[in-house]
Amino acid sequence: MTASRAGGPLVLAVESSCDETGIALVEGGRRILSNVVASQVALHAPTGGIVPEVAARAHLRWILPVLDEAWQGAGVSWADVDAVAVTRGPGLAGSLLVGINVAKTLAWIHDKPFVGVNHLEGHLYAAWLRDPGQADGEEPEFPLVALVVSGGHTFLVEMTDHLTYRLLGQTVDDAAGEAFDKVGRLLGLDYPGGPAIQRAAGDASRRDAVFPRAWLGDSYDFSFSGLKTAARRTVEAARADAGLREPEEHLPHAAVAELAWGFQEAVVDVLVTKTIRAAVAAGARSIVLGGGVAANAALRARLAGEAEALGVPLVVPRPGLCTDNGAMIGAAGARRFAAGERSGLDLEATPSLPLAR
Ligand code: KG4
Ligand code: ZN
Repeated sequence: MTASRAGGPLVLAVESSCDETGIALVEGGRRILSNVVASQVALHAPTGGIVPEVAARAHLRWILPVLDEAWQGAGVSWADVDAVAVTRGPGLAGSLLVGINVAKTLAWIHDKPFVGVNHLEGHLYAAWLRDPGQADGEEPEFPLVALVVSGGHTFLVEMTDHLTYRLLGQTVDDAAGEAFDKVGRLLGLDYPGGPAIQRAAGDASRRDAVFPRAWLGDSYDFSFSGLKTAARRTVEAARADAGLREPEEHLPHAAVAELAWGFQEAVVDVLVTKTIRAAVAAGARSIVLGGGVAANAALRARLAGEAEALGVPLVVPRPGLCTDNGAMIGAAGARRFAAGERSGLDLEATPSLPLAR
């Protein structure tokens, strides 16, 4: 039942670092044969954030059904698989352990090589992915500058070749996604805050709200804690003006929309300005955007416009490949596998694994 395959290693990849259970089959580090994600968003909505033990239990509940579904329609079988890849960190320890144990067991039972993958590298390699039926198209070209913005991470790197990273800058406090989530909660919006702020910002008829930008001099580092504090003060002042006292009383939607728009503008402004400056300094031939916040339409549009003005192609995965998924781990895992990398079945979860090399 083997389908005709264009080549490159076929990797079965498992992602369970945070609150999405993802399993994918990816060929040659690029072509997605299947990519199934079980999201825990609804589960964590009542607490407005991820409770690690709840997340780990949900991975345990969903990972085998997700695996079953990943085989359906992929047109391949275990005999075709060249390696099993899994996220080894960074992430929540209990969540990582579920995916690592399942991946190890599969590799052992089926006698396949096993490769541990850095989750952040997965977000970068999502830029190489192609959906089923999508033409191969151009690959990102080196040197490239990549911005990864997620719920747990915000950093800029330069890549001069595959699997080779030079960290240019990173957040000195909160990740951009964390700021979106916290400000979303302040505004009384649904969890997670990122998509909810994007939706509310789209409703803004007045676009006057101005929030501070932390430029941090010439550095490529980011800071969002001051912006978060400014947002909290502005929301509190607006609530006091409107005479709102109870937590369940919310500002009128028009006011929420304007504040959401102003906050989103401030985040996007800093992210885009620093990325473009880094791309110019590096003489980049591509700009890559990844991580959950890369699903943000305002960020995508503004970076696309500025990259075009610079004449540098921007590569941004579709939103579903920006948020956590197994395919991105398959993309990075295939590169590591092709480079000869193997992990032992004693691989451990590394919750604060940095992006190395
Ligand atoms: O990469 P990801 O799925 O998980 C981590 O590795 O952290 O990123 C999740 C983050 C959340 O903070 C979420 O609010 C944010 O990505 N996010 C967005 C959007 N979609 C997801 N932020 C802004 N706009 C969006 N459309
Ligand atoms: Zn992520």
